[in-house]
Amino acid sequence: MSDTVTLLGIETSCDETAAAVLRRRADGRVDILAETVHSQIEEHAPYGGVVPEIAARAHADIADAVIERTLGESGLRLADLDAVAATSGPGLIGGVMVGMMTGKALALAAGKPFLPINHLEGHALSPRLAEDCPFPYLLLLVSGGHCQFLEVTGLGAYRRLGSTIDDAAGEAFDKLAKTLGIGFPGGPAVERLARDGDPRKFALPRPLLNRPGLDLSFAGLKTAAARVVEQAPLDDQGRADLCASFQAAVTECLAVKTERALQDFTSRHDGAVRLVVAGGVAANQTIRAALDEVARSAGATLIAPPLRHCTDNAAMIALAGAERLAAGLVTGSGLDFAARPRWPLDEASAQADPAYGGGKKGAKA
Ligand code: KG4
Ligand code: ZN
Repeated sequence: MSDTVTLLGIETSCDETAAAVLRRRADGRVDILAETVHSQIEEHAPYGGVVPEIAARAHADIADAVIERTLGESGLRLADLDAVAATSGPGLIGGVMVGMMTGKALALAAGKPFLPINHLEGHALSPRLAEDCPFPYLLLLVSGGHCQFLEVTGLGAYRRLGSTIDDAAGEAFDKLAKTLGIGFPGGPAVERLARDGDPRKFALPRPLLNRPGLDLSFAGLKTAAARVVEQAPLDDQGRADLCASFQAAVTECLAVKTERALQDFTSRHDGAVRLVVAGGVAANQTIRAALDEVARSAGATLIAPPLRHCTDNAAMIALAGAERLAAGLVTGSGLDFAARPRWPLDEASAQADPAYGGGKKGAKA
């Protein structure tokens, strides 16, 4: 099939209940007819992180209403769709099950195929929602659940170039915020305080920076920052200084590794080089500015999707389904697909080195 396709997408793998109705034309242009993202932040805030059982229950409570509202806003009925796509892994399994089973039920009722989508493929394709972003490109996916470099050479063609060996960057931001008692999610709170702080005040480690390769690590940095808090009470200025120093360390780790990843990528691809950054941490202005600088120096272009499509959303899930459908990669009804709590995009690398890279990690997982 290569014509225009219209899909309902559903996303429930973490703490956002999201639905989108999207139309993709044969030339790749995308119209998002309606989309809803319902955040569960308030339910999880008292715990300083996402609680899987609370997330699953909240998805079950609200998924039907979110989907109904989104479909209503699109002006379409189930019968008008070509397929239903839902995140079927990786992620918090309770939530994934809710979205996947709802998607299957709707697909079955409407007599349409069900497309089980890898959440990470949604992120990997997310720049293509808003602009012409042809393959190949280098993707830095940096959020509360993931932190990896991926070489995206085509639909379904992903090579993991490097990944965190422990925590995701966003998770480290969240942990620091929890230690300082400044709110959840932690990234925006740390960024706010960092504005008034001195980034050179605390000498925090830059894990793995001096080692070759593209792997990242944030656990040691997180622990070092927590130790500063334990050692002596911090006044307001001290907290701002710690946030600024922490943000500077994360920024340097990401920037240096991105520079290296771009060199590696450029050595294998001719023509214009695109660096895409996606995930909630891409909202951080200091990190974004550093990545922009790295891209410019390498003669590459930084593409950062609008924030609502950097963070978890269903439009990227619908797009992954639409691209798969249009490329003729869909066979069967999809109803027999079993949810996968761990589902690496690059299965070969994950099997060769199973210690990490299995998909969603960290506090949000
Ligand atoms: O992509 P996302 O919404 O969810 C997944 O993890 O999939 O990312 C959320 C993460 C949280 O860890 C949050 O603290 C972080 O992104 N984040 C930030 C900022 N805004 C959100 N980190 C640093 N600076 C920010 N401004
Ligand atoms: Zn995500």
